[in-house]
Amino acid sequence: EQIEKGGYEHFMLKEIHEQPNAIKDTYRGRLRVKEGIIKMAGVDDNLERFLNANRIIVVACGTSWHAGLVAEYIFEDLARIPVEVEYASEFRYRNPVITEKDVVIAISQSGETADTLAAIKLAKSKGAFVFGVCNVVGSSIARETHAGAYTHAGPEIGVASTKAFTTQITVLTLLALKLAKANGNISISEFHKHLTELELIPNKVAEALKADDHIKTVAATYKDAKNCLYLGRGFNFPVALEGALKLKEISYIHAEGYPAAEMKHGPIALIDDQMPVFVIATKKGHYEKVVSNIQEIKSRSGKIIGIVTEGDEDVKELADHVIEVPETLELLTPLLTTIPLQLLSYHIAVMLDKNVDQPRNLAKSVTVE
Ligand code: G6P
Repeated sequence: EQIEKGGYEHFMLKEIHEQPNAIKDTYRGRLRVKEGIIKMAGVDDNLERFLNANRIIVVACGTSWHAGLVAEYIFEDLARIPVEVEYASEFRYRNPVITEKDVVIAISQSGETADTLAAIKLAKSKGAFVFGVCNVVGSSIARETHAGAYTHAGPEIGVASTKAFTTQITVLTLLALKLAKANGNISISEFHKHLTELELIPNKVAEALKADDHIKTVAATYKDAKNCLYLGRGFNFPVALEGALKLKEISYIHAEGYPAAEMKHGPIALIDDQMPVFVIATKKGHYEKVVSNIQEIKSRSGKIIGIVTEGDEDVKELADHVIEVPETLELLTPLLTTIPLQLLSYHIAVMLDKNVDQPRNLAKSVTVE
């Protein structure tokens, strides 16, 4: 097992650090910057189904559901296709309206999640076209879907999902860009800009990983918190949810993710000097509005940890700590802002002496209801 961990103390840490290569493996052969194309066989063969879709319905569970939520923002922004994101466990039992004009995207790392599999079968029985985004080759979901795209993240052993999440977002971004080009909703120059930036993401993830020592000191400061709040907006709202989930899963600290602007409708009542608030406040993404949320937290003595763009000044002034990530297109920031939140949860769990790779009560793949 030590050999499999490749010198890392835990699988989770190894998998966090594998992300630059995992993302590269995901877009290898698909992202062709010089030719100005994205190649995805499962999409090329079924392009008409996608282009004629009334809407896309994403079904997934857990972290994969969070990747689906990021995809909703990306698909609607780039390809102008309406997207709904559903918990597979709800979708399968609520007699949903599904038609032959719907495209269902099922996202699953393991490809074995029982609720997601059942949602796929339901969608198929109503005539929808079902596309899978799986990591495990030949898994049940990969076999049950009409077509799909593998994430190629490599085996993920840690129960808390890390590289599966960022590679799912990578595949879904490729898909959104491909459809946006095919349906004419993106200009050639914008398309090119996105391809070029996406290709740079692995290096930027590697850059973000270098903050590890600093993140460890932040983790030491907040490891005894009883509750934590995670806030983000736009493309980074799902990242806030995922950040909170990571902390819950492995450290057993209660955490909640919220869209930053919804704070005033509830969570703000919880804020006092015992409450760390992790705020994703990258440049461009409603930055000024998030900064004013930070001011509201500060005036209630909350502890602020900002996830910011390199060189940020405003949040640094207000926050107790900031963690920087490199600059990229707003739409691609989830691939970077996720990294420090994964590391934070990891270090807190290690400091609390928890079983990082196999947290209590959780399973890597949930094959029963
Ligand atoms: C379990 C795992 C999570 C995962 C979820 C969905 O709860 O612990 O990490 O996100 O299942 O799994 P899937 O394999 O369908 O992505």
